[in-house]
Amino acid sequence: MTKIGFVVGSLRKDSSNLKIAKNMMKDAPTSIETALVDISDLPIYNEDLDEGDNVPASWERLRNEVAGFDGFVFVSPEYNRSIPAVLKNALDVASRPYGHNMWDGKPALIITSTPGAMGGSLANHTIRQSLVFLNMPVVQQPEMYIGNTATLFDDNGIINNRGTSDYLQSGLTALVEKINAND
Ligand SMILES: Cc1cc2nc3c(=O)[nH]c(=O)nc-3n(C[C@H](O)[C@H](O)[C@H](O)COP(=O)(O)O)c2cc1C
Repeated sequence: MTKIGFVVGSLRKDSSNLKIAKNMMKDAPTSIETALVDISDLPIYNEDLDEGDNVPASWERLRNEVAGFDGFVFVSPEYNRSIPAVLKNALDVASRPYGHNMWDGKPALIITSTPGAMGGSLANHTIRQSLVFLNMPVVQQPEMYIGNTATLFDDNGIINNRGTSDYLQSGLTALVEKINAND
């Protein structure tokens, strides 16, 4: 079974990006296994800690988890026209130590969402820039910039329009096709 990890770039309990990830996981076909990847507890990457007995347990946990997935969906807000630090840190942690890039070769879908109209397009491409270096084949189309998130959910956090749900699932379908083509 294809295993897809969802990495969310916001730690907020009420995060719109987390809600998008949960909606996608709920609507995913039964042939896909999905799970959230916890990036909330990672000390900021420092090479001095990455040797001997110093390696933080949460770094080891993330690296092992990343190794177990076939592909990833990154769902993130834009922070100051760039990528949230917590997400960049997770990319850094699982890319090291040198020669042990756990993201290597794993396909990815990038989704950004914001309450504004632009849908975090600059963050989307900044994430993409790192994924190129990490050697992750990224879904090119559809591009997923989700704007106006303030009106996207009902009181239970469920996406309130079929068009957006279907659009998000089309991204997941494209990711699975990329994973299968990559085998
Ligand atoms: C530090 C910070 C910087 C932000 N910068 C941007 C930005 O550059 N572009 C944008 O559209 N929204 C920006 N926002 C607003 C976020 O898009 C908004 O808070 C969003 O809801 C965060 O996603 P979440 O609901 O998943 O937490 C920023 C928010 C924070 C906290």
